Amino acid sequence: MSAEQARITIFDTTLRDGEQSPGCSMNQQEKLRLAHQLDRLGVDVIEAGFPIASEGDFEAVRAIAAVIRRPIIAGLARACAPDIERAWDALKDAAHPRIHVFLATSDIHLQYKLRITRDECVAQAREAVRLAKSFCDDVEFSPEDATRTDPEFLCRVLDAVVEAGATTLNIPDTVGYTVPSEFGELISTIRRRVKGIENVTISAHCHNDLGMAVANALAAVSAGARQVECTINGIGERAGNAALEEVVMAMRVRSDRFAYETGIVGEQIFAASQMLSEITGVPVQPNKAVTGRNAFAHEAGIHQDGMLKNPLTYEIMTPKSVGVPDSKLVLGKHSGRHALSIRCEQLGYQFDRRALDDIYRRFVRLADKIKHVEDHHLLELIRDTHKTSSSATPLIEPSSPARAAMASAAAPETPKPFPMVPLAGTFGVPLPGATEHHPEQQEDYLWGV
Ligand code: KIV
Ligand code: ZN
Repeated sequence: MSAEQARITIFDTTLRDGEQSPGCSMNQQEKLRLAHQLDRLGVDVIEAGFPIASEGDFEAVRAIAAVIRRPIIAGLARACAPDIERAWDALKDAAHPRIHVFLATSDIHLQYKLRITRDECVAQAREAVRLAKSFCDDVEFSPEDATRTDPEFLCRVLDAVVEAGATTLNIPDTVGYTVPSEFGELISTIRRRVKGIENVTISAHCHNDLGMAVANALAAVSAGARQVECTINGIGERAGNAALEEVVMAMRVRSDRFAYETGIVGEQIFAASQMLSEITGVPVQPNKAVTGRNAFAHEAGIHQDGMLKNPLTYEIMTPKSVGVPDSKLVLGKHSGRHALSIRCEQLGYQFDRRALDDIYRRFVRLADKIKHVEDHHLLELIRDTHKTSSSATPLIEPSSPARAAMASAAAPETPKPFPMVPLAGTFGVPLPGATEHHPEQQEDYLWGV
């Protein structure tokens, strides 16, 4: 870490807020398995659950606290004694426990949900933090619905909880309502106005109802927040939370704008995403940034041609940097001749120019019909073309992997999951000399568009 790069604490709430997503509930064993992966991923804080919510959640938090010893383990509690005592019961064996207390502060919540006055809210928040502090040094306080709270009143509540001993002030955009400039200003106001703020970590907890959770979290960091609360794949209540992988990779890829460091091991991101999806049965949206199966897939001829010459043309981070085995060039109707000829070579066939033209025309017709041309389709097409046209002669004999692929082409293909490990002969493996630029490739690029 360079001297000027501030360290951002990554607080993962996949096992708490994330688990609140419809369909994402996890049992104790599943939570424990994911907690181990979060540990490998290098998160600083794991919010393991909401111990008062159920017996199962209590046991899950307890089990995680007992075995995951490096990160801080946090448990959520409403601002009342039974919740805080239950949270502490679950956390007390943790190497680094944290009690996370929350209480709503917006007038809408005070009036309609809690039915308490502002004064009562301040007193309840203060008492709750005092109680939590009597058990545990590390106490986080969240004023729920902070972004719809009168900033004046918000600062009054925060003054009270800092005085009572809170060590982290988490500012939730509970309903995903704020926008980056506004959220940044709110963090600056808190930094200017709250007494004792210099001894406290400010945190951002952003929901994605308007699709701005990650942008809001980054704006908070730019304004001085030093903890970000986030989840794997961005799961969470309603539209979800800020996605951990997006926040972290935005800071890495755009370190010129966000000169911050995290302890995240990038190479573990994809494994965490896949494990969560496997446990919950909730698939990752294909075009999901960083972890979706299309995040490093290229179909357009122009893009494939660029990728084959130099991946920097169309990728701003390497797949390996986030644990994805490799980029994929998908053969479809938008693909160009360059990508097709490379794939044929990988399957063991090299064609002269006329033969390749022939194959390419047939390939485009096929892609129009079946959308994605898999290896076995391509091998059949090569065989057919070879049978019917004397010009389409392979210049080299198929190598043995190609023979194997041809043999397997006879069997019906089941859809393949995005590969977890590099597969021998997978399309997209960087090619020797792929960055060399030959004049005829420029023509391919035009032809393939
Ligand atoms: O969104 C929210 O306000 C929360 C708090 C409990 C931090 O999840
Ligand atoms: Zn939340």
